[in-house]
Amino acid sequence: MFRIAVLASGRGSNLEALIKAQKVKKTDAEIALVVSDNPKAEALPRATGHGIPTQVVDPTIYTEKKAFDQALLKLLQSYQVDLIALAGYMRLVPPELLQAFPNRVINIHPSLLPAFPGMNAQQQAWDYGVKFTGCTVHFVDEGMDTGPIIAQTVVPVLTEDTLTLLTNRILKEEHLLYPRVVQWIAEGRIKLLGRKVFIK
Ligand code: GRF
Repeated sequence: MFRIAVLASGRGSNLEALIKAQKVKKTDAEIALVVSDNPKAEALPRATGHGIPTQVVDPTIYTEKKAFDQALLKLLQSYQVDLIALAGYMRLVPPELLQAFPNRVINIHPSLLPAFPGMNAQQQAWDYGVKFTGCTVHFVDEGMDTGPIIAQTVVPVLTEDTLTLLTNRILKEEHLLYPRVVQWIAEGRIKLLGRKVFIK
């Protein structure tokens, strides 16, 4: 079984989409663990509700960032996961973790990267006045939303749109795209050459 850990800091709707995909057998990946840096993350009860183990690694209880990073790494190693999927995880992944899981950490971002990295990507795109935006699943590197792009879905900005409507349409596409990419990885169909990702 291909085992994944999902890291989430908040709402957890992408986590829910991954759980659903597992339930309806759209993916063979098993969510072995959900980790949050936020004890109040809604993602935690969502996971528990589906019988998925959860762990909180709370940065506020560590005096040094290094100790927090180590605790997170140890935890993920102890669960022997094949893939780490960030789903609304609000921290940069430490280099040690990336070294321990080379090309095994992915993220979903609500814009067509490299446009609008960082926080409030939908709002950034909206304010910029783009005609098309969307979502991106990418490998995580040490930068902020800078890793190799695996897949993207384009979402047009409509004349009658509001930021909320647009954000919701992007989110719907995120929920379709993320499980699909996880399944490709579980099937071993993804090849990375330099920055370029090929899907067999
Ligand atoms: C999503 O828009 C995702 O693209 C971004 O953070 C948001 C998380 O939402 N990285 P949720 O917690 O999965 O509902």
